[in-house]
Amino acid sequence: MPVHSTDKWIVTQSRLMRRVHRFKSLASMTSQTPPAPTAQAAGRYPAGSAAFPHGGLLGIAGLAPHEILFLLDEAEQWVDLNRQPKKRVESLRGLTIINAFFENSTRTLLSFEIAGKRLGADVVNMQAATSSVKKGETLIDTAMTLNAMRADAIVIRHASSGAVRLIAGKVDCPVLNAGDGQHEHPTQGLLDALTIRHAKGTFVGLTVTICGDILHSRVARSNMLALTALGANVRVCAPPALMPADIERMRVTPFHDFDTALKGADVVMMLRLQNERMQGQFIPSPREYRHLYGLSLDRLAKAAPDALVMHPGPMNRGIEIDSNVADLVGRSAITTQVEMGVAIRMACLEVLTRKARAVEGWA
Ligand code: CP
Repeated sequence: MPVHSTDKWIVTQSRLMRRVHRFKSLASMTSQTPPAPTAQAAGRYPAGSAAFPHGGLLGIAGLAPHEILFLLDEAEQWVDLNRQPKKRVESLRGLTIINAFFENSTRTLLSFEIAGKRLGADVVNMQAATSSVKKGETLIDTAMTLNAMRADAIVIRHASSGAVRLIAGKVDCPVLNAGDGQHEHPTQGLLDALTIRHAKGTFVGLTVTICGDILHSRVARSNMLALTALGANVRVCAPPALMPADIERMRVTPFHDFDTALKGADVVMMLRLQNERMQGQFIPSPREYRHLYGLSLDRLAKAAPDALVMHPGPMNRGIEIDSNVADLVGRSAITTQVEMGVAIRMACLEVLTRKARAVEGWA
């Protein structure tokens, strides 16, 4: 059977995996050591490294649905660990992870740092603003320098789409994309999927409305790829100037009218206007944008009664989302997204270093 041919397959896999990670959670709470790889413990993925045969994480594009589910399932043990008073294992002890951020970040940088440390690794952050990049060093020379320091994993954020792939081709260790230009932000797509699964239990048949600056958003792109692969119906909504021309190719339904896009939605994901990636004027004014595309309580009432509210952050309160929606207890999952971000980044770092750590079945 092809591994990702039907929604039925995904439903079955999701149910089975939820059972598996409930079991795994108990195991990890008692021993504080990661259980055997899910692939072998459950027999539901290809065995060993075939469960995730990639040398790095450059995007959601190219991942099979079962590979996405594998990372989500691996993250569950870390959700559990992170809720314990003692949050550290030694799986990555002796390894060095370098976070090289050429663009600003709060959530992604800190959560990768926390993730690496909770796994026992030595974590070093390179901030471009205070590095030799400011003296004119090229991206490739910077990458070669990090490689010569024998990093065991490099996490990169860069303002240029494709920069992370370029670096991945120059270094010997796994590279993880922490957001490159308007291309992809794969760990954000994964953490959003994990947040949705925790709230809704499944992806199949869910209607997810993503609204905002679709054109410039790497978050939107990674979410569209992940959520459609997992069986959700994805609607995207933006003013015409902020909607990519060929968006239907992403297997999503485009809308320009937010009220229509919200009707019956199970999940509403709001996006920030990516002003730093805009050249020229894309919206008449922030006030006009809020009027047409801002999520207010009145607008939220058009979605399903239990619709989940999401935002990757940073938020511009009062523009794309009102404060009383962002802080709506029981409906807003914005802080849960941050929590899931640490677990997903732990899963990605742990899985991608298995080969170097000679984990059985992965060496
Ligand atoms: N969501 C996100 O990528 O946030 P940061 O820019 O703070 O990392």
